[in-house]
Amino acid sequence: MSSSAPPLSSAGDRYFDGLADKFSRSLYNAPRGDLRLAMLDQLLPQMLRLEQQPVLDIGGGLGQLALWLAARGHPVTMTEPSGEMLAYAKEAFSTANTSTPIEFVQAPLQALEAKTPGPWPLITCHAVLEWLSDPQDAMRRLTALLAPGGQLSLMVFNRDALRFSNVVKGNLEKALSDRLAGTGHRQRLTPISPISHDEVTCWAAENRLQIESVAGIRVFQDYLRQPPQTEAERADLLALEHRYCRSEPHWRLGRYLLYTLIKPEKS
Ligand SMILES: C[S@@+](CC[C@H](N)C(=O)[O-])C[C@H]1O[C@@H](n2cnc3c(N)ncnc32)[C@H](O)[C@@H]1O
Repeated sequence: MSSSAPPLSSAGDRYFDGLADKFSRSLYNAPRGDLRLAMLDQLLPQMLRLEQQPVLDIGGGLGQLALWLAARGHPVTMTEPSGEMLAYAKEAFSTANTSTPIEFVQAPLQALEAKTPGPWPLITCHAVLEWLSDPQDAMRRLTALLAPGGQLSLMVFNRDALRFSNVVKGNLEKALSDRLAGTGHRQRLTPISPISHDEVTCWAAENRLQIESVAGIRVFQDYLRQPPQTEAERADLLALEHRYCRSEPHWRLGRYLLYTLIKPEKS
């Protein structure tokens, strides 16, 4: 049995204090983390207008996306409530060779209207909403931080893919009773609020955000019976992920769903 994690925040969110080492090891020092970064490296320039505008990166974790954006000349403000994750991100920045500074702010999304109100032309919020007890409220907060005409790059952990992978693994009773979410109380990396595409569509409409584009991240990798063994097989898998990440029906079962949402000039 895995050991307990620190308590949830007062809002019921899972900050990653106590999970930073595990997260770093099991995601980013593993093939699935490499694949996620390779996919984002190709997709973000296709899905966003990147014009070296200032970016607010929310729940930036270990700092990979903040560094990626800074390396492309964006002034980045990276926010993160977990001191442990922020320490990793600062360390990564100090050893990276980027001349654009990153401002680090230790705060949860719920404090940003006061601390970093913007409004921001570009906000990135990747793999955060599923760790919050109220992701619907988070969408309202993200919208308030966006400038008119601004872009939100949102990535969420896909509830439908979680169901599918549980069935593939033989967890039939768990899938049938829809007990898919993690509790956040142990050192597990199963999110407490996995999110469906229908929810994102509904919350976007509630906040008058337009879904400009969507892609599935890891549409095949998690369902492989055998991981790629050679460099050539890894390259083939990446080519397949790229080819099908934005086409029907494959994107719908991506482990993560990546959206570009636009706040209209006039609401
Ligand atoms: C799965 S990690 C994602 C990190 C990074 N964005 C990435 O894509 O690798 C989730 C992050 O959300 C942060 N988080 C949890 N609750 C939050 C909140 N209320 N506001 C902002 N970030 C939060 C956690 O501390 C953690 O670093």
